[in-house]
Parts: sequence; structure tokens; C-alpha cells
Amino acid sequence: MRALVTGAAGFIGSTLVRRLTDEGVGVVGVDNLSPYYDPSLKRRNLEEIGSAAFRFVEADLNTAPLADLLSGADVVFHLAGQPGVRGSWGRTFDDYVSANIAATQRLLEAARESDDPPLIVYASSSSVYGEAEAYPTHERLAPQPRSPYGVTKLAGEHLCRLYAANYGLHTVSLRFFTVYGPRQRPDMAFTRFLRAAVTGAPIQVYGSGEQVRDFTFVDDIVDALFRAGTRPTAPGSVYNVSGGGSHSVNDVLALVEQLVGVALTVERQPPARGDVSRTTADIAAIIRDLDWSPRVALEAGLTAQLDWVRSQPPSR
Ligand code: NAD
Ligand code: UGA
Repeated sequence: MRALVTGAAGFIGSTLVRRLTDEGVGVVGVDNLSPYYDPSLKRRNLEEIGSAAFRFVEADLNTAPLADLLSGADVVFHLAGQPGVRGSWGRTFDDYVSANIAATQRLLEAARESDDPPLIVYASSSSVYGEAEAYPTHERLAPQPRSPYGVTKLAGEHLCRLYAANYGLHTVSLRFFTVYGPRQRPDMAFTRFLRAAVTGAPIQVYGSGEQVRDFTFVDDIVDALFRAGTRPTAPGSVYNVSGGGSHSVNDVLALVEQLVGVALTVERQPPARGDVSRTTADIAAIIRDLDWSPRVALEAGLTAQLDWVRSQPPSR
């Protein structure tokens, strides 16, 4: 099997590349090292892959010669994107449209024009649900994003589905629920909280801290991606992928204090626009079709991320 991983230098992409090369898959990775967060962190992610079965191409999906990149690929894991719920308002929305919608459409066009079109596995998001109609939330409920980011991730998912319906392209969308673990992005909650706990810096909590997330450990996400890339699925299908627990931000803060053995200095901030009060997934579909279940519980995953945070140079 040969795979193309877009967003290969990012948090989830670089973790996926390690799993694929461990499984003997030949991987081409593409990433534009976007400046959303320090590109030196992305270069470090790439350096740590260290496999002869991996070739990296620094390029933007909106301009790169995609036919060349797709040549020989059986599967495309499409993780490139502009992430982050809270920063998607205002002028930065252009970045979200470009990275999450235009780049996805360009990739789908190139894939359907291939002589031997690859399977496309798309990194969708729990953000498509917004304040969901019901909990646990299953895939057939109507998506109603609450952030501009969620709108663009849903648009990308719709594009996958309609290239499947109109061109017979085989696409699978996985809706990831708040992913954490080693190499997590520096704008995300756990990296911020753990770094602050280790250095003694204050943390900011948006709103009451009673908002709930179905946090998912990155290795579980990567395992779901691997299964979606290697097992039969229906073209255009959509699956939730989540850790299977419901934890509030305040629960996480208590666990961080316990693991690190310090009291956090908490600065309360107003609720962040676009932040939903709860995410909790129904994962029956992916258990049934891909025989996938989450394996890493919150305390074990947070401990692994703490070890990683402690192993990083102070600037990270
Ligand atoms: P990340 O920012 O670490 O990785 C995304 C990578 O895509 C970055 O390295 C970036 O440089 C690259 N990129 C952006 N635009 C590009 C372009 N036009 N061409 C080539 N490369 C480009 O983010 P992540 O947390 O690893 O997320 C990966 C994917 O999963 C994203 O699509 C995100 O929307 C989705 N997702 C993430 C989470 C989460 O909790 N981290 C949850 C749901 C969905
Ligand atoms: C995360 C990712 O950042 C998105 O890219 C992804 O698409 C989304 O998950 C998803 O599941 O679809 P989010 O849930 O906001 O979004 O993840 P975190 O940044 O880890 O935040 C978790 C919670 O902690 C949020 O309620 C947030 O408001 C809160 N938080 C975050 C703080 O209180 N303080 C911080 O410094 C950071």
C-alpha cells in the first residue's frame, strides 16, 4: 500500500505517518508548514519521523501539482487544514476557506481525474455538530456548526460526499472529537494547561469550565484513520471518532493538578465565541463497520502528553 498524507507535518498527520511507516506503508507527505503556529514545531515533527519509507514535499495544496503527488497513491489521508475553533472569526476566515474548502475541492478534482483514483479519508470534525440536537450525537443528526471553522469543515465533508455521489470517488469522512496527546498543537487546551503546570505560569479558562468534551487520544484517532484506509466502507460514508468519555474542562484541570502535583493559577475569561457547551459522540457506527474502539482513557493519555511536554525544550 502507498499513501499520501496531507498535513503530514502537523500534530495528527505526523503521528499518522509514524504509524503508517511502522506498518510498512510507503508514505509521501505534503505540508505547507503554515505559520498558524511555530513552523519549527512542524519541522521537529518531521525530523522525528526518521523513516526511509517517508518522503516529504513542502507545498501548498492550493498550488502544488497534485497529479504528481497522487501518482501511485492507493489512499489519501487528507489532514491538511486550518484548525482552531476560536480563531476562525473575522479576517482570518479567509485562511479557513482557503485551507479547508478550496484545497479540499482541488484535491478531490485531482483525485477524480486520476487514472486509478485513490480512496480519500477526510479529517472532519465534531465542530460540524455545533450545539448538537441530541447526546450522544450520532452521524445522522443534522449538523449545525456554531463556528466559522465548523462551517468550513462541514463544507469539506459535503464536497467529499458529493464527489462520491457524482463521480464515484471513494471518500470516507471521520469526525474527530477534540484530539490530544504528544505533539498536540500549542493553541489547544491540554498543551497550554500542562505547560503552565510545569512552568508555574497562569492558565486561561474560557467560561465556567463546565463545558464538556469527548476528548480523544491521538493514537486512537490514528488507528481509526488506518482502519478507514484499509477496510471496506461505503463511498461517501461519515463516522464519529471519539474517546468515549465526557469530561469537563474543570475535570481536566483537577486531573492536571493531581498528575503534576501543583495548584494551577486560573484566570477566568469570558466564554469564547464558537465554543460549544458539550460534545459527546455516539460511536456505534465505527465500532460496527470498522471494528474500532478507543483504547486510551483520559488519565493515561494525559500522562503520556505530560511526559512529552516535559521532554520538550522550554520554547515549545
Ligand atoms: P495541525 O495544524 O497540526 O495540522 C494541519 C497541517 O496542515 C499543518 O501542519 C499545516 O501546515 C498544514 N496545512 C494547512 N493548510 C495547508 C495547505 N493549504 N497545503 C498544505 N498543508 C497545509 O492540526 P491538527 O490538529 O493535526 O489537525 C489535522 C486535521 O484534523 C485538520 O484538518 C483539523 O481540522 C482536523 N481536526 C483536528 C482536531 C483536533 O482536535 N486536533 C479535531 C477535529 C478535526
Ligand atoms: C478542538 C480543535 O482545536 C479543533 O481543531 C477541532 O476541530 C475540534 O477540537 C473538534 O473536536 O472538532 P476544542 O474542543 O476547542 O477544539 O479544543 P481545545 O482547544 O483543546 O479546547 C477544549 C476546551 O478547553 C474548550 O472548551 C476551550 O474553550 C477550553 N480552553 C482551551 C480553555 O478554557 N483555555 C484554553 O487556553 C484553551
